[in-house]
Amino acid sequence: MCGIVGYIGSRNTTEIIIKGLQRLEYRGYDSAGISVFDGENLSLVKCKGKVKELKNLLNSSPVNGNIGMGHTRWATHGEPNDANAHPHMSSSGLFTLIHNGIIENYYSIRKFLTGKGIEFVSDTDTEVLVQFIEYLYLKNNLSFAEAVRSALQKVVGAYGIVVLCKDEPDKLIAARHGSPLVLGIGEGEYFLASDTSPIIEYTRKIVYLDENEMTIIKSDSYEVRNIEEYKVISKEIQNIDYDLEQIEKGGYEHFMLKEIYEQPTSVYESTRGRIDLKKMTVKLGGIENWLTRILDANQIVITACGTSWHAAQIGSYIIEELVNITVKVEYASEFRYRETPIDNNTVVFAISQSGETADTLAAIRKARTMGALSVGIVNVVGSSIARETDCGVYIHAGPEIGVASTKAFTSQVTVLTEIALLLAQKKKLNCKMVKDIIRDFSTITEKIEKVFKQADKIKNIAKDFATSNNFLYLGRGYQFPVALEGALKLKEISYIHAEGYPAAEMKHGPIALIDENMPVLFIVTQRGFDKIMSNIQEVNARGGRIIIITSVDTKRCDEYSDHVIKIPAIHHCISPILTTIPTQLLAYYIAVERGCNVDQPRNLAKSVTVE
Ligand code: F6R
Repeated sequence: MCGIVGYIGSRNTTEIIIKGLQRLEYRGYDSAGISVFDGENLSLVKCKGKVKELKNLLNSSPVNGNIGMGHTRWATHGEPNDANAHPHMSSSGLFTLIHNGIIENYYSIRKFLTGKGIEFVSDTDTEVLVQFIEYLYLKNNLSFAEAVRSALQKVVGAYGIVVLCKDEPDKLIAARHGSPLVLGIGEGEYFLASDTSPIIEYTRKIVYLDENEMTIIKSDSYEVRNIEEYKVISKEIQNIDYDLEQIEKGGYEHFMLKEIYEQPTSVYESTRGRIDLKKMTVKLGGIENWLTRILDANQIVITACGTSWHAAQIGSYIIEELVNITVKVEYASEFRYRETPIDNNTVVFAISQSGETADTLAAIRKARTMGALSVGIVNVVGSSIARETDCGVYIHAGPEIGVASTKAFTSQVTVLTEIALLLAQKKKLNCKMVKDIIRDFSTITEKIEKVFKQADKIKNIAKDFATSNNFLYLGRGYQFPVALEGALKLKEISYIHAEGYPAAEMKHGPIALIDENMPVLFIVTQRGFDKIMSNIQEVNARGGRIIIITSVDTKRCDEYSDHVIKIPAIHHCISPILTTIPTQLLAYYIAVERGCNVDQPRNLAKSVTVE
C-alpha cells in the first residue's frame, strides 16, 4: 500500500525514482509525486493519477539533483487529488516527506499546529507529520535527525517515511513503524523503497529496517538507529533472491496473465526439495525444529486475509482430513480483536503473499503474546511476517505483481498440503492417502498445462458473460473455497458482483436470485458428484445460465449447462490447485472484455499495510 522510493548518489535521481515508482505502482495508483533537492531548494512535483501522468508533468517541468524521493499513493486520509498527493512540504519549505501508513493522532496534532498559526494545504495525515517535524525543528533548534525522531516519538499510528531537509541536503532520513522499508546498498549510492523491486536493477545488497528503526543515509555511509533510545544498530546485509526478469511482463499483456501461466513452475517451486517422490516423503526445513510442538498442539488456527484466507480454508480441510486435528480459520482482522482461547498448546499459521498485511501481522503478534507458536506461510522473503514468526515455510511462488493474487494462491495450497502430509507421516496417519497425494503431485505440472488448453474456450465464454451484472460461484467440499476465490477474482478485476457459496446452501437463500440473467458457475469433481448434480438441476430448472468446471468425464454436465470446461482429474485434496485456474482465466478474460485495468483494479492495492 503506497509505494516509496528514495535515492542518494550520482546517477540521474529523477529517472531512478520514476522507474522505481513504476515498479511499485501495484501498491497504489491514486496519485504520484517526487521531491528532489536541486542544489538550492527542495523541488516538488506531484499530481493525481498514475506515474505516467507524473512523468508527463516532469517532461514539461524537469527536476534534477543527487538526492530525492518519490511516492505512489493509495488514499487513506483525503481524496486522491493533486494537493493530497505525496510528497508533502512543510510551510517554510524546509522539509518534504513521503509516507506509507496512517498517523492516528493526526487530528489533535493538526489542531495544535493550527493553533500555532500553521496553515495546511491538504487533508492528509502525512502533511500533519511534516509540519510537526518543521515545527519541532524550528522551535527547539534541533538537527534534522533530532526533529524527525522527536516527532516520531509523539505520533501514534503506522508509518514508513522518507524525509528530506533543505538545511541538511546531504541526507535522506527514513523510519519504519508498521510499514515496510528496505535500504539498498550500492557503490557510493543508496536506495530506499517499500519493497525490493525498485532496487534490484542496481544492487542485490539490502538491509531490512525493523520496527521502530530509523536510518540516516549520506552518499558514502548509512547508519541505523532505534527511534526510542537512538542507539546504533548493527544490521545484517542480505541478498535479493530473485531476478529482474521475474518482475517484468515478459511479453504478456498483463502481469496477471503472466502469473496465471507461471503456475506450472510456481507450484513446482513450492514442492522442490520438499517432496521426495522416490522415498514418498516430505521435508520442510523451515519447521523441522518445531515439529514436536506442532504435532502436540491441541488446535491449529490459520489466520489470513482475502485470497490467502481462501487458501487457509482449503488448508484446514486437508489438515483435518489427514492429521485429525482441529483447525480453525480466522480472518486476521477479526482474530486480532476477538476473545478466543489461545495458549501455548495452539499453533497459529499466518498465510500471506506479501508478508506485510497489517491485520495478519497484528494477528500473529497477538498469538505470540498469548503463548502460541507462530508459523509463517509467506511468499516475500524477508517480509515482516516471515521475520516475526517463530518459524515458517516460504511458498517460493516468485514475485507476484498483478494486484489480483493467482499463483500465490496455488502455491499456498501446495505448501499447506505439504504441511498436512508431513504431519500425517509423522503421526503415521492415513498412510495410503498420503502416498496417493504425493504420487499425484508428480503429475501436477503436466495437468496444469492441460488446463491451459481450455484457455480459448474460456475466452469465448467470457465474451458471453462480459455484460452480466451478477455471478454465483458454487462448489462443495474442497471446491467451496475455490468458489469463494473464483468469485473474489471476478469482482475485484471486472467489478461484476459475484458471490461464492457452498452449493447446497444455495437453497437457503441465493436460489431466490436465479433467473435467466443469473450466471451460475459450478465446480464439479468426483467427490459429491451426485449431490452437486442435483444442485445444478435446481438451477437449470429455474432458467439460470450454467457454466461447469469439471474433472468428471460425463455427458451429464453437458446436458444441464450452457458451457462445460473440462479439466484433468487429480486427488481430491489437491484438486483446488487445478479447479482454481479456469476461474482465474475466466475472471481475467471477462475483465479484459469489459476494458478493465486488470493489473491495477480500482481502489485496490497489492499489499494492505493499513488496518
Ligand atoms: C485478492 C488479493 C487479496 C490478498 C489479501 C491478502 O486477489 O490479492 O485479497 O489476498 O489482501 O494479502 P496477503 O496474502 O499479501 O496477506
